[in-house]
Amino acid sequence: MIHDNITVNEANHLEFAGLDTTLLAKKYGTPLMLLDTDKVRLNMQVYKNGLAKYFGETSYPCYASKALSIKEIYRIAKQENIGIDVVSSGEIFTAKSVDFPLGKAFFHGNNKTDFDVEYAIDNGVGYFVADNVEEINAISKIAGEKGVNQKILIRITPGIDPHTNAKITTGQVDSKFGTPIETGQAFELVEIALKAKNVELCGFHCHVGSQCFDSTSFIDAVVIMLSFIRDVKNLFGFSASILNLGGGYGVRYVDSDPQIDILSNLEQVGKAFNQTCDALNIIKPQVILEPGRSIVADAGLTLYTCGSFKTIEGYKNYVSIDGGMTDNPRYALYGSNYTVYNASKVNSDKKVTATIAGRCCESGDIIQENVQIPKPTRNDIIAVAVTGAYNYSMASNYNRITKPAVVSVENKTHKIIVKRESFEDLVKNEI
Ligand code: LLP
Repeated sequence: MIHDNITVNEANHLEFAGLDTTLLAKKYGTPLMLLDTDKVRLNMQVYKNGLAKYFGETSYPCYASKALSIKEIYRIAKQENIGIDVVSSGEIFTAKSVDFPLGKAFFHGNNKTDFDVEYAIDNGVGYFVADNVEEINAISKIAGEKGVNQKILIRITPGIDPHTNAKITTGQVDSKFGTPIETGQAFELVEIALKAKNVELCGFHCHVGSQCFDSTSFIDAVVIMLSFIRDVKNLFGFSASILNLGGGYGVRYVDSDPQIDILSNLEQVGKAFNQTCDALNIIKPQVILEPGRSIVADAGLTLYTCGSFKTIEGYKNYVSIDGGMTDNPRYALYGSNYTVYNASKVNSDKKVTATIAGRCCESGDIIQENVQIPKPTRNDIIAVAVTGAYNYSMASNYNRITKPAVVSVENKTHKIIVKRESFEDLVKNEI
């Protein structure tokens, strides 16, 4: 099985976090996303302990909540005493609704509107990760009107290509995010931020990409960013107290993906960090990491009901399920790999090769192609593993399909944490 929270029981049914998935599908209906919250906590703790151990006591992770932004995840982050990365007023609102301490929130995005700036300041968001000159000026102006001094970091593009999917790389010079060092613009921005009246520059941020399986690009980022911090100190006499290295560690979706040990990766990056600080003779900044995918992806599993198994003679087999790109657009968008199980009969000799197709009126609505599974028949439960990140958070209502329910599984108990959307929900904003 792809992760240790997925097993098979005596009835040949798939279990998730110790519970029979076919029974959960029966109780809650499908499509259904399961969230193993024990796993979420464990993943958060690995980062929390690793950052404190290898980067210094004050370093901590901020969960990148774009991966899955629901109340329950902010409750867990609050209990685990870590920070969050937010990218919109909507994410701030959701975190606030469960009293998440927003002083530990980093507010991202390449276009924060004046409304966003005001909303974040009013709600005590700790840090803005400022993207550009106009944004710094807007933060300074609005903070001044409110009589506050807003802490900010500046988002820097270090010029690193992490060799992941082009749509999810962000650290290269030509990017809609941040300001490059290479062109000299990053230094200009620092000068502007230091002169701005109502902002307090605390440090710098970078994010190289997502789904990275080793630490090469993180180590490159550490060296480039610390050298930048040294240059800034020499030029302006400003010592950065925070270095936020973004998120990006990968997760195993299929057997051919490598296993990744986050703790030993943190150890390697921590070593490079400490050595480089010493070599450059700079005061060690507090380090923040923003893992999203690697906190929630393997904590998620989605259950569907098979509607039909169809063979197009001479071509291929299609398994039609009662969800698809509306709850998981990642194959349609990025061609992402997924592991699929027939949860109703996991191990059986009679395997077929099939395309798992969603229910939208769209040929590209596919969850995965060339999957080898025991031949499904109508009403079998089909499980797609590692769906905790960027699935529910990217879900849509295309074809007026309602979003699935989310059920948490913790210590072998289960409960609804997000209700299934209703038809009334679909029209609630319409006149
Ligand atoms: N910090 C910043 C500033 C980011 O832009 C991101 C992701 C993260 C942290 C978290 O990265 P992670 O640890 O999750 O790799 N929708 C795409 C992923 C987009 C990631 C965007 N930024 C997908 O489904 O693969």
